[in-house]
Amino acid sequence: IGRTLKVFDEVDSTNNVVRELETEKSPSGTTAVADRQTAGRGRIGRKFESPSGKGLYVSVLVRPNFGLEFAPMITAAAACAAAEAVEALCGGKVMIKWVNDLYMNGKKICGILTEASLGLEMRVLDCATIGIGINVRSIADSFDEELKKTATSIEDETGVAVNRNKLCAELLNRLEIYLGKIEDRSFLLQYREREMLTGNIISAHVGEDTIVGEALGIDDNANLVVQLPSGEIRNLNSGEANLCRI
Ligand code: BTN
Repeated sequence: IGRTLKVFDEVDSTNNVVRELETEKSPSGTTAVADRQTAGRGRIGRKFESPSGKGLYVSVLVRPNFGLEFAPMITAAAACAAAEAVEALCGGKVMIKWVNDLYMNGKKICGILTEASLGLEMRVLDCATIGIGINVRSIADSFDEELKKTATSIEDETGVAVNRNKLCAELLNRLEIYLGKIEDRSFLLQYREREMLTGNIISAHVGEDTIVGEALGIDDNANLVVQLPSGEIRNLNSGEANLCRI
């Protein structure tokens, strides 16, 4: 990963840059990184603030040769890689909020957006673009007050001004390792150790509905297992869940 590395000052979204490369013969591991994004995308149609000099905005093209059932786990494995990379350079504790957000001290420092292309047969995963955005330097002057209630940066939480190039290298090295831990599901060990919803009452959006229940843990497909007040167990395979603050 990262042996073909394209570096930009400004792009709309590094995920767009990499997705355009999917059709060409770019090797698996081709990576794009930018100082800033004008249209950084988050999950569920959200925007990802990507100001100059503040974050690591990186996307990686992968051509996994495993079955479609493993596709949802790419993001979860990437979250483990990103959490370890951040911890290695700043010393602070990083938690994962299912599926793929990284948190420090209860606020988000990193989001991951994986966009996949299916093969003609629809049963194999041809290509996936893993987009990772990490708030590295203080966001105090660049995020609005509303966003600052839920988002933070490595520097704001630890006082450490991590070097973005070093963080990128740490991240790509670990991503390579963690992508190799998907098929035997061994990444789940580290994922479960960091997952922060487990054991708590959470609310989650499931389609049109909002459910509230106790997060019991992460199953072998990286789904969030939730027990509803009725006792019914649901295994959520996508969406977003948050701690209920009572
Ligand atoms: C989220 O928090 O919902 C996911 C955020 C993903 C942001 C990264 S930054 C690099 C890549 N390019 C994008 O436009 N999005 C991802």
